[in-house]
Amino acid sequence: MAEDARITTVEDVYEEGSVLFTATNSFDMDEEIIVVPCEDPGETEGAAANGDRGVAAWINRCTHEAQRFDTGRGVPMRDGEIICPKHGSFFDACSGDCDNGEAAGTTLPGIDVAVEDGAVFLADEDYTFEHEGGIEDDDGPSSTSHVGF
Ligand code: FES
Repeated sequence: MAEDARITTVEDVYEEGSVLFTATNSFDMDEEIIVVPCEDPGETEGAAANGDRGVAAWINRCTHEAQRFDTGRGVPMRDGEIICPKHGSFFDACSGDCDNGEAAGTTLPGIDVAVEDGAVFLADEDYTFEHEGGIEDDDGPSSTSHVGF
C-alpha cells in the first residue's frame, strides 16, 4: 500500500471509537470520511480487518439531511451502530444500512479501505487521501503567511 494513502491504525480506530479524515473525490472536491470499528466485516464490501478487528469507512454525512456524524468530537456510536446526532437514526457500522427513524431504508455511501500490518489505508480509486481530521483542519497554506514582499 502506498504510504500516502495511510489513514490511521486499526488500534486507533478502536481506542478513539472513530477516526475522521479528509479526501478529495473524483470531482476534485473535499469530502470528510469516518472510519469506524466493524466487528464483522466479512460480508461488507470495502471493509477490511486486522485479525478479528474490522474497520469500515463512510462519508461523514447522514443520508436524511446534510448532517455530519462526527462534528469534531468523534462519531456517536452504540452497540455497533452509528447514531445521527440530528434526528437519531441508527446506521449499522458494517453495512451502512439504516432501518429506523427519518433515514429508514437508506444506506450510507461506503468508501473502500484496506488493512496491512495493522495500518488502515484508503483503497478507493475515487478518492485521494488529503489529511487527518475534517476539511477545516487542514494545516496547509493560509492567509496568515509571514512572507513579505
Ligand atoms: S439528519 Fe440524520 S436522521 Fe435526520
